[in-house]
Amino acid sequence: MAGDKDVPVDDVLEFPTDLAETPRHPRIALPGALFGGRRNSDGVEWGAQDDLTALATAMRNAPEAPEVKPLTARQIDAVMSRAARAAPLWRDTPVATRSTALRRAADLLEDNRAALMATLAREAGKTIDDGVAELREAVDFLRYYADEAEGICIPRILPGPTGEANRWQARGRGVFVTVAPWNFPLAIFLGQTAAALSVGNAVVAKPAPQTPRIAAQAVALLHRAGVPEDALILAPGGVEVGQALMTHPALAGVAFTGSTATAKAINRALADRDGAIVPLIAETGGVNAMIVDATALPEQVTRDVVASAFRSAGQRCSACRILYVQEDVADRMLEMIQGAAATLTLGDPMDPATDVGPIIDADALSRLTDHIAGHTPIWQGDAPDGLFLPPTIIELGRDEKLTQEIFGPILHVKRWKAGQIDRVLDEIAATGFGLTFGLHSRIDATIAHVTARATAGNVYVNRNQIGAIVGSQPFGGHGLSGTGPKAGGPLYLTRFVEEVVVSTDT
Ligand code: NAD
Ligand code: ALA
Repeated sequence: MAGDKDVPVDDVLEFPTDLAETPRHPRIALPGALFGGRRNSDGVEWGAQDDLTALATAMRNAPEAPEVKPLTARQIDAVMSRAARAAPLWRDTPVATRSTALRRAADLLEDNRAALMATLAREAGKTIDDGVAELREAVDFLRYYADEAEGICIPRILPGPTGEANRWQARGRGVFVTVAPWNFPLAIFLGQTAAALSVGNAVVAKPAPQTPRIAAQAVALLHRAGVPEDALILAPGGVEVGQALMTHPALAGVAFTGSTATAKAINRALADRDGAIVPLIAETGGVNAMIVDATALPEQVTRDVVASAFRSAGQRCSACRILYVQEDVADRMLEMIQGAAATLTLGDPMDPATDVGPIIDADALSRLTDHIAGHTPIWQGDAPDGLFLPPTIIELGRDEKLTQEIFGPILHVKRWKAGQIDRVLDEIAATGFGLTFGLHSRIDATIAHVTARATAGNVYVNRNQIGAIVGSQPFGGHGLSGTGPKAGGPLYLTRFVEEVVVSTDT
C-alpha cells in the first residue's frame, strides 16, 4: 500500500497499452440500479431474500480488512511526486485501455461484493440494503465514466480556413487529488477517482479518516484491473493530509465531496497557492426540504418521507431534513409517518432484518443529541445501546428556521397554510443550500409552478428524494451545496480535462 513502503524514484514506468482480458460488461448497468440496486448486470438478482441471507453469511465470514495507516508528511511529498511522474504516461495511455481497466474493476467489485460489503458494514455501519445500493452505484460509476471518457477523449478535426488543419483534444490535467467523505466511502470515493482516471489524470485519492479500509480495498481492485500503481495512489489520513495535498506543487485539480465548511477551506487554500490556478469540483451538503400539499397521497408520502429522512440513519447528503406539510392534512400525515417510522429496526448492519444502522462515530452522535436537546421532539423512536440514534421528529414554529445541515435521522417539520406555497419556497431558497428537493402534490399546476421555482440541483416529485441513479439522475447541487458539474452526468468529465488545439498550416 502507498505510504507503507518506500516510494520508488528510479524505476522505469511502463504502462499497458493493451489488456488481455475483455471485461464482461461493456455497458453501464442501469437496469441494476433501476431495479432498486439489487440486480447485477448479468440480470441476476442478488438482493432476493434467499440471496440476502447467503450474502449476510458471506459478509460475516469475510476476514477483517487490514488496518491502513495515515500518510506521514514525508510520504505525502513522495506520493505526489510519484503520481506526477506517472501522469504523462497515463495521459498517453489509449483511452480504450483506461476504460477497459475501469470496466474490469467494475467486474471485480461485483465478484468481491461480500468482502466489500462486510467492510462497509464494519467501518461505516452500512446495512445490507445500503451496502448493495452503494456497491451498485460504485459499479455504475466505473462503467459510466469508462463510456463517457471514450466520447470525450477522441480528438476532433474542427472546421477552419482553407489551408489550415485544426485538431482539438481533451486530455488529463496531471495529478488530480480526490477527497472523499465517510458516508459513501466506496461509491463516491470510487466515482471521483474513476472520473479523474478515465480521462487520463494520475490520481492521489484521499478517503475520509473514518473509512480508509474500504478505500484501500477499492484501490487494490483498480490496480488488479490494470490501473498502474503509480497512476493511482491511496493517501489515507485526516485534515492534515488533506491540507498538505492541497498545497503540493504537483497538484493539478481537486475533486472534493464533503461538508460546505471544508469545501470553503479547500477553496481558500487553493486560492492562496503559488503557481497554476487549480480547479475545484466541490459537492457538499444540503438543508433539503420536501413540500407536501393537501392533495398528496398519504401512504405514498409516508413511505417517501420515512425513506428520505431515516434511511442510512439520515447520513446522506440528499436526505430530507425539513418537511413542509399543508396544515389541513398535517396531523394525519404526521400520525402516519410516526407509525411507519416506529416499525424501523435499528441494529447490527450485517443482520438482513436491520433497517437502520449506527451513527458514524461518538462525536457525530453527540452533535446530534445536542441538537435534539435544544428542542422538544414531537416523536422519537427506540434505539439499542451503542452508537444509535432513534429516528426523531422535531416540529418548528412558524418563525423558526433550519439553516444548517443536521446530518442524522432527525426530521424537522413545519406547517404551512393554503395559498402560502411561495412563502415556503422563499424560505427554502433563503438557506442558500440547493441539493435535493421533494414535492408531493396531485395538482399539475402546482407541480409545474413549484418545480420551476425550486432552487435545488435534484428535484423529486411524488417519490422519495434519495438514491440518485448514475447516468439517469446526475447528482449535485447549487449554491452552498456545490459547484457542479453533476456526478454521473454528461458534463462531469469536462471539469477533469484540459483542452488543446493544434492548428497547422497545410
Ligand atoms: P468533511 O467535510 O468533514 O470531510 C470530507 C473530507 O475532507 C474528508 O476526507 C476529510 O478528511 C477531508 N478534509 C477535511 N478538512 C480538509 C482540508 N482542510 N483540506 C483537505 N481535506 C480536508 O465531511 P464528512 O463528514 O466526511 O462527510 C459528510 C459531509 O459530506 C456532509 O456535509 C454531506 O452532506 C456531504 N456529502 C455531500 C455529497 C454530495 O454529493 N453533495 C455526498 C456525500 C456527502
Ligand atoms: N447520490 C446519493 C443520493 O442521491 C448521495 O442519495
